[in-house]
Amino acid sequence: MNIEDITLLTSEAVAEAGGAADAAALEAVRIKYLGRNGRVNDIMAALKSAPPEQRKDYGQAANRFKTGVQAAIDARRDELESAPAAPSAAFDFTLPGIWPGTGRKHPITMIIDRACDIFRSMGFIVAEGPDIEDEFHNFDALNTPKIHPSRDPQDTFYLHTGQLLRTHTSPVQIRYMENHAPPVRIIAPGRAYRRDTTDATHSASFHQIEGLYVDREVSLANLKADLQFFLSRLMGRDIAIRMRPHFFPFTEPSVEIDFSCHVCGGKGCRVCKNSGWIEIAGAGMVDPNVFTAAGYNPDEVTGYAFGMGVERLAMIMYGVPDIRMLYENDVRFLAQF
Ligand code: PHE
Repeated sequence: MNIEDITLLTSEAVAEAGGAADAAALEAVRIKYLGRNGRVNDIMAALKSAPPEQRKDYGQAANRFKTGVQAAIDARRDELESAPAAPSAAFDFTLPGIWPGTGRKHPITMIIDRACDIFRSMGFIVAEGPDIEDEFHNFDALNTPKIHPSRDPQDTFYLHTGQLLRTHTSPVQIRYMENHAPPVRIIAPGRAYRRDTTDATHSASFHQIEGLYVDREVSLANLKADLQFFLSRLMGRDIAIRMRPHFFPFTEPSVEIDFSCHVCGGKGCRVCKNSGWIEIAGAGMVDPNVFTAAGYNPDEVTGYAFGMGVERLAMIMYGVPDIRMLYENDVRFLAQF
C-alpha cells in the first residue's frame, strides 16, 4: 500500500461515513475503517514496512486517514442526531400524546413546606421529634398534671411498652431545649395522635406545626408580630391577629389565636362563618416549669410557643369540607392542588 492508496482509502471512508443512513450504518463504517480489525491496520502495516526515508510521509498520510475519517464520522453523527426523525408509516403523528401522569405534593405537605420556608426566612430552623413518645416529654415536662384529662387512655394511645403516640408536637420543644442552649428559634412540623372518633373535622392522626422562640426578652408582642407576618405571607394578603385568653398547662399566659379571614378580610363570609375571624393556633408564653424541666433557667430566659393544626389550615385555605378527603388519597381530589 503506497501513499496514494492511503489517500484514496481516506476519501472512500470519508464518503462512506457521510453517506451513512443511520447510527448503525455509521458504526459499521467506523468498525470497517477504524476498528480493531479495520483497514487502519493495513495502513499501519504499510507504515512499518516503508523505507526509512519515506516514514515521515507515510506517518502523515496515516494521521490524515485517522483524523479525517474520525472527523467525518463525528460530523455525520451530529447530523443524524439533530435531524428530525423521518416520518414513518407506523407512527401517526396526529394522534394525541400520552400524558405520563406526573406526581405532585399532597396539600398537607405543600402547607408544611411553605410554612417551613416562611419561618426559615424569619430565622427559625426546622426541628423534629419522634412520633412515639414517653410520658415525660409529652406530658410531665410540659407541666401537665398527673390527673389531667388529656392523659386518659380514652384520649391518648398508649403502647404496651408504656410509651405513647404523641398527642401534640409540643414534646419537640422539650427535646430541642434538652440538647441546645438558648437562644432557640424552631418550628417542628409533624404528626400527632388522639383517640378521637373520626368525623368531618376530627381524625385520630393529624399534623401540627409547633413553634418555639426562647431568648432573653421574648414577649407576647413577638408572638403576635411573628404569626401575623407568617400568616400574611402564607395567605398572600395582610392578615390581622387577635388573641383570646385560654389555658394550656405548658404556657402562662395562654391564648388562642385567630386571624382575620383571608377571604373577606374580616367583613364576614361563608369561610369565617360571618365572624370575620378564623381560629388557627394555641399559644402562649412558655411556663417557667417547662424551662426547668428542659434544663433552662427560667430566671434567665423567656419564650413563646405555639401549635397550629395543618389539616385545619389546608381545609380553610383550599375549601376542603371534610378532613377525611385529605387521607383518602383519591387522585381526582389530589390532582386539584
Ligand atoms: N400543644 C397544644 C395543642 O395541641 C398547642 C400549643 C402549643 C399551645 C404550644 C400552646 C403552646 O393543642
